[in-house]
Amino acid sequence: MNEEFKNTLGIIGNSFAIQEIKQIIKQVAPTDITVLITGESGVGKEVIAKALHTSSLRSQKPMITVNCGAIPEGIIESELFGHEKGSFTGAGDTRKGYFEIADGGTIFLDEIGELPLSTQAKFLRVLENGEFMRVGSNITRKVDVRIIAATNRNLENGVRENSFRKDLYFRLRSININIPPLRDRKEDIPLFIEYFAKNFAERNNTHVEGFSMDAMEVLINYRWDGNVRQLKNTIESLFVINKGNLIEANDVRKQLNTYQDYQIEFVQPQRNLPVHTHKTSEQVERELIYRALLEIKNDVVDIKQFINNYAESKPALNESYLETNNSSYDEDLTLDEMDKRYIIKILQKYHGNRRLAAKKLNISERTLYRKIHEFGLNGK
Ligand SMILES: Nc1ncnc2c1ncn2[C@@H]1O[C@H](COP(=O)(O)OP(=O)(O)OP(=O)(O)O)[C@@H](O)[C@H]1O
Ligand SMILES: [Mg+2]
Repeated sequence: MNEEFKNTLGIIGNSFAIQEIKQIIKQVAPTDITVLITGESGVGKEVIAKALHTSSLRSQKPMITVNCGAIPEGIIESELFGHEKGSFTGAGDTRKGYFEIADGGTIFLDEIGELPLSTQAKFLRVLENGEFMRVGSNITRKVDVRIIAATNRNLENGVRENSFRKDLYFRLRSININIPPLRDRKEDIPLFIEYFAKNFAERNNTHVEGFSMDAMEVLINYRWDGNVRQLKNTIESLFVINKGNLIEANDVRKQLNTYQDYQIEFVQPQRNLPVHTHKTSEQVERELIYRALLEIKNDVVDIKQFINNYAESKPALNESYLETNNSSYDEDLTLDEMDKRYIIKILQKYHGNRRLAAKKLNISERTLYRKIHEFGLNGK
């Protein structure tokens, strides 16, 4: 692979897996073949999608990114394929969908596993021959769009559970770039650290000393469940906390412990209560506080449900994402503001990992995406 091509990709990593991925990109980028990118949250699926687009012949045209999990089921078809004026309540004007907007370029369908079954057939059609119809129209339209899809879900399970069409799955997986989790390509970690450090220093016009050897070892051997995103957040937090001074192993451990605590909490099946095998008095105390807060939370959820049913005659809310700890409760806040603050907090707690955050919030990822969008939290 020539140096120039390597550099234009903007993909950090020299592990065997990443070298192979760069090779596949080089081969498939100039074609119009559909590519499915898979991998855990934060591994770099969007980075790979962008590299595919920028090294394709379509690079001068736009790449439209659509997060299928973020769009409510009811409007996803009209968002993707457009609609005719008056085709449904609220469709005041005729509107182009993302496929038409991306004509000539690339469309990146993120979280493809979230695509509702009813939309999958239409998606398969556009995948096969570029044809689709706007909602409320019977005119077949055609676009010239390169499709890249990504998911952190196991689509095979979706097929087994009948939530994902088998034919679509087979069609999508013909070219599959699977990005392994960071813990399986540890040799890339020092490269990422160097890259994030340089980046941070440049962005903040500052100098950072970096990490001691021991600190590097801790970083390299950590599990990184949130993958590159978590590594990036951790590195940047450490630079801020340590004000650019040399970071030692203990500083790293301290920073990572916070995250580990959340992991312990996350794997508990029962209402997110932490259960420790060898509890210290502090842990017992914390658990009691959690229980008390949970009781309060349940009460608030009940009240919220009551208000919703009574005032708006809406169906009962079965999603609870109210505060479970005591830091930001304020009598004067609206329910929306409380929701928003709590979601921000949980997202920060899980370093932006939406899957973990949704689990913690006890809502579906789709609902979380919707809330993020609704509250304008995309950059958080
Ligand atoms: N190989 C890489 N080179 C450079 N940056 C990377 C690489 N992999 C990941 N990153 C960085 O890590 C972060 C997460 O990457 P990205 O958003 O592409 O992950 P993702 O797999 O799409 O995550 P999610 O499943 O949560 O959407 C981004 O800040 C991205 O720039
Ligand atoms: Mg992504």
